[in-house]
Amino acid sequence: MQESSEPSVIGAAPEGARDPRSAARAVREMFTSIAPRYDLLNHVLSFNIDRLWWRRTARAFGHILSRVDSRVLDLCCGTGDMTFALRRQAGQSSSQILGADFSHAMLQRATIKAASRNDSKPGWIEADALSLPFPSAHFDLVTSAFGFRNLADYDAGLRESLRVLRPGGECGILDFGEPNGLMGVIYRMYFKQVLPRVGTMISGVRGPYAYLPASVERFPPPEEMLERMKRAGFDEASWTPYSFGIAGLYRGKK
Ligand SMILES: C[S@@+](CC[C@H](N)C(=O)[O-])C[C@H]1O[C@@H](n2cnc3c(N)ncnc32)[C@H](O)[C@@H]1O
Repeated sequence: MQESSEPSVIGAAPEGARDPRSAARAVREMFTSIAPRYDLLNHVLSFNIDRLWWRRTARAFGHILSRVDSRVLDLCCGTGDMTFALRRQAGQSSSQILGADFSHAMLQRATIKAASRNDSKPGWIEADALSLPFPSAHFDLVTSAFGFRNLADYDAGLRESLRVLRPGGECGILDFGEPNGLMGVIYRMYFKQVLPRVGTMISGVRGPYAYLPASVERFPPPEEMLERMKRAGFDEASWTPYSFGIAGLYRGKK
C-alpha cells in the first residue's frame, strides 16, 4: 500500500461535509441561520461566563492594545463580543481594531451592536480566515474567540494568522476544551445532553447545537494544538486553562 506524504487536513467537519470546502460552506450557513439568536443563546448557555473569558483574553494582550497605533485583527468575530472586549481594553489608545467573519449575517449583528453602543472604533470586514485580504506582516495581534475550532483546516488557519502577523506579533486563540475529573463528567453531561436541547429550542434550528459538542470533541487537545502551532512557525506557544479547562487561551508569538 502506498502512503501519502501529505498530512491529512484536520478541521471542522459538520454533518454531511465531504471536504474542507463543503465543511466551510456548512459552517457559514449554520452561523448565518442562528445569527438572530446567537447572542441570547451564547449568554444563556454559558451562564454569562463567556463575558469573563473575552475580558480575560483581552487583558492578556493589554501590552499590545495599549500601544500607539497597534493593529489588531479579531478573526471569526461573529457578532463582535471579543472585538468589543479588545476595544474596551485598548481604552483611549489609538490601536486599530478590526473584526473579520465570513458570515454576513453575523457581521450585520456586530455593526448593529456597535452602532447601539455608539462605538465607531472597530472596523468590520467580511473575510475568510483561511485566505485573508491583508498583506503579510500587517498586524501586531490576531485573536479568535470560539471561531478557530470551526475552521475547515486548523493548520491552514494557523499559517494564515502567522502570515499576517508582524515579527514579534502575537496570536490569541480562545476556545473550548474538555476538562478532566468530576468537572469533566458534569461538563460533558451538560454539553451533550442539555445544551443541544435548549439550543435547538431557543434557536429553532436543530443542527448547530448538536454540532457544538461534536466540534469540541474533535478539536485537538492542548498538547497537540501547541505542537501544531510550533509546526506552523510560532516561536512560542502556550495554553492557559480558563474555568477548569472548559475554555482556554492559546498564545503564540511570531
Ligand atoms: C462560535 S462563533 C464565535 C463568534 C465570536 N468570536 C464570539 O466569541 O462569540 C464562530 C464564528 O466563526 C465564523 N467563522 C467560521 N469559519 C470561518 C472562516 N473560515 N472565516 C471567517 N469566519 C469564520 C462563523 O461565521 C462564526 O461567526
